[in-house]
Amino acid sequence: MKRPITDFSAGTALRRRAHALIPGGCHTYAKGDDQYPVLSPGHVVRGAGCRVWDADGNEYIEYGMGNRAVTLGHAHPAVIEAVRAQLGEGVSFTRPAAIEVEAAEAFLSLIDNAEMVKFSKDGSDATSGAVKIARAYTGRDLIAICADHPFFSVDDWFIGSTPIHGGIPDAVRRLTVKFRYNDIESVKALLAEHPGRIAGFILEAARVEPPRDDFLAELKRLAHADGALLILDEMITGFRYHLQGAQRLYGIDPDLSTWGKALANGFSVSALAGKREFMRLGDLTQSDRPRVFLMSTTHGGETHGLAAAMATIDVYRREPVIEHLQRAGARLRAGVSEAAQRRGVQDYVSVIGADCNLLYATRDAALQPSQAFRTLFLQETIKRGVIMPSLVVSYAHTDADIDETIEAIDGALEVYTRALADGVEKYLVGPPSIPVYRTWNEKR
Ligand SMILES: Cc1ncc(COP(=O)(O)O)c(C=O)c1O
Repeated sequence: MKRPITDFSAGTALRRRAHALIPGGCHTYAKGDDQYPVLSPGHVVRGAGCRVWDADGNEYIEYGMGNRAVTLGHAHPAVIEAVRAQLGEGVSFTRPAAIEVEAAEAFLSLIDNAEMVKFSKDGSDATSGAVKIARAYTGRDLIAICADHPFFSVDDWFIGSTPIHGGIPDAVRRLTVKFRYNDIESVKALLAEHPGRIAGFILEAARVEPPRDDFLAELKRLAHADGALLILDEMITGFRYHLQGAQRLYGIDPDLSTWGKALANGFSVSALAGKREFMRLGDLTQSDRPRVFLMSTTHGGETHGLAAAMATIDVYRREPVIEHLQRAGARLRAGVSEAAQRRGVQDYVSVIGADCNLLYATRDAALQPSQAFRTLFLQETIKRGVIMPSLVVSYAHTDADIDETIEAIDGALEVYTRALADGVEKYLVGPPSIPVYRTWNEKR
């Protein structure tokens, strides 16, 4: 192994300052300290391509970059150039910026299912906007979410359905109901329990497994038969599974779809897109229904974000980004699986999900899912220069980066093997990571 990374002293000092000033120590729960081993970089100072550097000057290959937002690589030249050019023209004006129209045209010319689009900053703005339209259009209050998909929004309609529902009224929590992915019987049961009361069904087109038995089409048929809308959340699948989104890949035509993350290569842009019939509830001319206050934020039309989105779309149109994500992911999957096989731990560490969106599962000696082993695995890959909360690749991950990663993972698996025999506590420094969705903090 290259010289192991063991010095996190500057990072530790930064962590302490962060926790004194910022609840949770950062602005995204998934990036929090409770999700990582003690022996990890608390913060990243800069990034280029698929590499990042921490406060101690340690260099890493990164996976899942920016919670899957930075698909082209950190500081991608074409995106940065477009942003720089726009910055000199001003960021926000009293009336809308002309680039808002250009960006809408660029987006809608790509996503052919959608007839109108509204931009905002966070994915949650878009999914919550979709839920609001579904409720306004149908005049119903209930929203059905897929129980197997981990995150849709920071807003009450979703977070209220998780164990971390402090501050959310019970009355709101009761309005969210759940169905299971690839389980059409669960959809039928929900509709039978709440006939004519569900405004919309929201889900990702795929997560770990692809849709089976025409699940998406059947879900749409049942939802429409009951008068509910189908909302496809393309936050992760969009700009990853297919140039036109997972909706094109799986041949499903949703009423509304929601986008963000990779849309602007890490700049803050999200989008609610869909059929005019539904989107127009937020317009200035429809007069047959009450007005819907749809996604209006001070920074919604921020010019350089939209310039970043247009530049990103342009790169996707010109270059084989999607093909690269698939190919790089397949190489990584094969290499990690082979290493696990060689070390005899293939039942304990497995790579799951689509090649462009890989995750991994860690199990203990009793073959039970284990956060402690996950944390140890992270600790050991970080020591070898790889940060991998997932194995989600970007366009910037070259074959050489993937091969270097496989080597680091192989080294981490060697420790994993010993921990299976000797006990994980012998090798893990500090407490295991814990799921974000929990009602109470644990003493750490
Ligand atoms: C599938 C999905 N939908 C919606 C969101 C919310 O996006 P944001 O965090 O930008 O508000 C996320 C974020 O992780 C997501 O993964």
